[in-house]
Amino acid sequence: MSNLTQQQVLSVHHWTDTLFSFTTTRDPAFRFENGQFAMIGLEVDGKPLLRAYSVVSPNYEDNLEFLSIKVPDGPLTSRLQHLVVGDRIVVGHKATGTLLLGNVRPGRNLYLFGTGTGLAPFMSLIRDPETFERYERVVLVHGCRQTDELAYRDQIAHEFPASEYFGEMLSDKLIYYPTVTREPFRNRGRITDLIRSGSLFADIGLPAIDAADDRAMLCGSPAFIADMRGILEGLGMSEGNNATPGEHVVEKAFAERA
Ligand code: A2P
Repeated sequence: MSNLTQQQVLSVHHWTDTLFSFTTTRDPAFRFENGQFAMIGLEVDGKPLLRAYSVVSPNYEDNLEFLSIKVPDGPLTSRLQHLVVGDRIVVGHKATGTLLLGNVRPGRNLYLFGTGTGLAPFMSLIRDPETFERYERVVLVHGCRQTDELAYRDQIAHEFPASEYFGEMLSDKLIYYPTVTREPFRNRGRITDLIRSGSLFADIGLPAIDAADDRAMLCGSPAFIADMRGILEGLGMSEGNNATPGEHVVEKAFAERA
């Protein structure tokens, strides 16, 4: 297991019955770019049981943070959800992923579209000053079923704008647009529907998304990704990757975690 390190759990936060986040120590040799994911998990019967997890915390922080669903009979998350402070998890040495600023062409506005735990990589990207240096506006759109699943809502809206390091840029440039589908809330509906109807753009006061000015990153369920890809490709926004930047990028490693 030379490519894995053991890290200690420092805090655990349960957002809902099915959603939690936790922080761990970080191996000083573990390097990543904001937006990337690592393989993390537990040792089960002497073998590592690992899944891809985007790093929530920005890469200049000493600790790591992850956001996870809890699947009752999921091989990893059924165990991971019981983590307590002091427990150990395993973290792979190598971080990877496509949601990198360098994979998206320059433009005016950067849209970060995520559903559920697909918010995670954007949490590090919205604490990266470079994100705000590259774009005039950064629009974080997070879609969930219910408001209590809008993880980090208070931090994004209240705590981050007060940060000494990136707060001013974030306050000037970030538009945070949480939306839920299954209970009343100020923003309601699937991200795809809000784009198609134009409600999203009317609400945030920007013109409808287009290939000339706008760039996008996607992270979420396979169905969401498929539908969003259809919308963006239909607008002529080509997909970028680690070899060729594009008008949008997709995190393919994000699967239904179990
Ligand atoms: P909905 O409640 O209408 O299914 P999940 O928890 O299932 O991953 O869903 C997270 C959010 O993503 C929910 O608001 C859900 O809406 C929405 N969603 C699910 N599938 C799609 C899709 N194909 N396109 C857009 N949004 C979707």
